[in-house]
Amino acid sequence: MSNQNRGLFSSKFGIIVATVGSAVGLGNIWRFPYVAGENGGGAFLIVYLFFVLAIGIPVLFAELIIGRSAHSNAVGSFKKLAPKTSWHLVGAMGVLASFMILSYYLVIAGWTLEYLYQSIADNLAGKNTAELKGMFDSFVASPSRTLMWFFVFMLMNVVIISAGVEKGIERFSKFLMPLLVLLLVVIGIRSVTLEGGQKGLEFLFKPDFSKVTIDVVLEALGQAFFSLSIGMGAIITYGSYIRKKDNLGATSFTVAIADTLIAILAGVAIFPAVFAFGIDPAEGTNLIFTTVPNVFQRMTGGYIFSIFFFLLIAVAALTSTLSLFEVITSYLIEEFKIKRKLASIVTAVSIGITGSIATLSSNHIFNLKIFKLSIFDFLDYATANIMLPLGGLLIVIFVGWVFKKKKVLKEIRHSKHYKARYLPAIMFIIKFIAPVAIAIIFINKIL
Ligand code: PHE
Repeated sequence: MSNQNRGLFSSKFGIIVATVGSAVGLGNIWRFPYVAGENGGGAFLIVYLFFVLAIGIPVLFAELIIGRSAHSNAVGSFKKLAPKTSWHLVGAMGVLASFMILSYYLVIAGWTLEYLYQSIADNLAGKNTAELKGMFDSFVASPSRTLMWFFVFMLMNVVIISAGVEKGIERFSKFLMPLLVLLLVVIGIRSVTLEGGQKGLEFLFKPDFSKVTIDVVLEALGQAFFSLSIGMGAIITYGSYIRKKDNLGATSFTVAIADTLIAILAGVAIFPAVFAFGIDPAEGTNLIFTTVPNVFQRMTGGYIFSIFFFLLIAVAALTSTLSLFEVITSYLIEEFKIKRKLASIVTAVSIGITGSIATLSSNHIFNLKIFKLSIFDFLDYATANIMLPLGGLLIVIFVGWVFKKKKVLKEIRHSKHYKARYLPAIMFIIKFIAPVAIAIIFINKIL
């Protein structure tokens, strides 16, 4: 397939919204609050922020460089830039990680549709915390409902992905992301003004470093990778759709900053309410589903806000699943020379199978365990905490030591706005700091 008809993002704004759209998703609004809650709050946040700056931005940048230089999918990019080597296996691990993430991410994305439906039917109003929890538990225990929403979400992906890069992904992301930010601000304001909400802010912003163990550090690293969509080829793939004249450094910074602000905003919207309503911050995966409906009950117009909130999380999840889907689809299109439509159907059918198994195992219909974790938790842990950081480690080694500065420079010089004063610093981090930091964390975890 020639480069011309691979598709390109048509504007700078389009690149930013699509890439921010990939980064901002359930990782910010659903995963960040509960992982922070389980890992000590403030101290976790600081370690997390450090990783976003010191590792996240350089890996984002490295992935964009790889994708745009090669103009190919995650596997094909490495094949082009380092022919006849094993580097393409890094891309292959990314395709596998996409597959594994989608197998559970689409399930949780489906939960947001159930909550959207329940909001519209006005079934969340008037319930106390215990009732909301009961409602959540009985929903996730229902195989038919969870599977139904999972497949609805899958179908939305297939339709948009078949439409291609510009008409599908880009057009869709443009309106909805700004709306989500606005709504989070509104919920945040209501949440912090709840009686007892102050404690939630303390929990989120007051670090207690005695809580920082190697497990907390690894969770923060995993959360940073997961939330920024890095370490598995999504950004390589999107980078391959970026025009030569667009600025990759600015894109990396903007995406990382937007993603982090939205995660913090989600934390500010959730933790004050968690404390005000006496919910355990370490509650786990149901945290936002039991907390946020409580907040809406204390708001004028809560009915409408609730509908909007779940609609927008569903949209945020959708723009993330599209990027995961695109990793697999573009790989199938380019490496197996098949049509986009067929590729997206093959992707959907295979994830349909693994996702159903994951769902049913978490419903306790059958109780499959891997390393003592449910399939669901295994997929999450293995991808976020192991495969993504490992992929990121190999990506920075590739760009820092194999691809080298001269070629990086050549690649970013296409941009008219080229100044790139940041380049020496970022290359230093890519070559030395990021790989050493990731390696130290892995080694410490293993020992
Ligand atoms: N970053 C997305 C989120 O926060 C999830 C994701 C991970 C998307 C990896 C693409 C690749 O929800």
